Amino acid sequence: MNKTKSILVASLIVILGLASCNTGNKRRDPGRVYAPDMFYSRAYDAYTSNPNFADSQTSRPPVTGTIAVGHMLPDHLAEGDTTAYKTYTTSLRFNEDELAEGKRLFMIYCAICHGPELDGNGPLYKSGKFAAMPANFKDAKYLHMPVGQMYAAVKYGKNMMGSYASQIDIKQRWMILAFIKKTQSENGGDAFAFGSAATTASAAAATDTTKAKAPVADANKKG
Ligand code: HEC
Repeated sequence: MNKTKSILVASLIVILGLASCNTGNKRRDPGRVYAPDMFYSRAYDAYTSNPNFADSQTSRPPVTGTIAVGHMLPDHLAEGDTTAYKTYTTSLRFNEDELAEGKRLFMIYCAICHGPELDGNGPLYKSGKFAAMPANFKDAKYLHMPVGQMYAAVKYGKNMMGSYASQIDIKQRWMILAFIKKTQSENGGDAFAFGSAATTASAAAATDTTKAKAPVADANKKG
């Protein structure tokens, strides 16, 4: 009796084992479905047409007047309005961590041309493969350049320099410019105006600088 039982159990294990093996065919049929709306989404897929909206588009633009979490208000510069560039500025102020982030971003996006020393002697220009001399930020011509004009160069590009608007978000642009302006201030430029009075340690305690810090982490993720 015991023997029959153990044979039965053993064969049951073998049968179940075989049944669980994948036959190699993809099984798309879920078989009997309990609560089918858990399996078959009622949501519209992105890019499909949608009868619920006048323009029949499922993918919606951001709601007017809203800003995605971690992003800043758009700037209202118009391309080519060089008079507006000159007076354009920001009220953002940066702590040590953010200035370090600005330097990190500069080394990634700008140093290839403008040089890690900011003297316009980046490896690409030095290699002779890039004909236009990148701005030497330590030169008198750029030491006192309005930040808005520099911002416009990053956003729209300038002659041989392309636009970085799609790679570098607004806060990142200002962090990079703060790093450039700080370096310039140490090399005969104007007094540095972008520094936050708060030290890195006390900045963590103040709510608005903490908020300002969050995108730094985001920026790292976007990398
Ligand atoms: C592919 C090379 C290249 C890269 C990368 C590059 N630049 Fe430039 N940049 C140039 C050149 C060339 C000029 C000179 C343009 C001119 O005046 O004709 C220039 C000019 C500038 C100017 C002066 C604008 C003006 O109005 O005269 C600023 C500011 C500037 N770059 C900032 C940056 C920043 C910040 C970055 C990184 C986000 C960057 N550049 C990346 C090549 C580059």
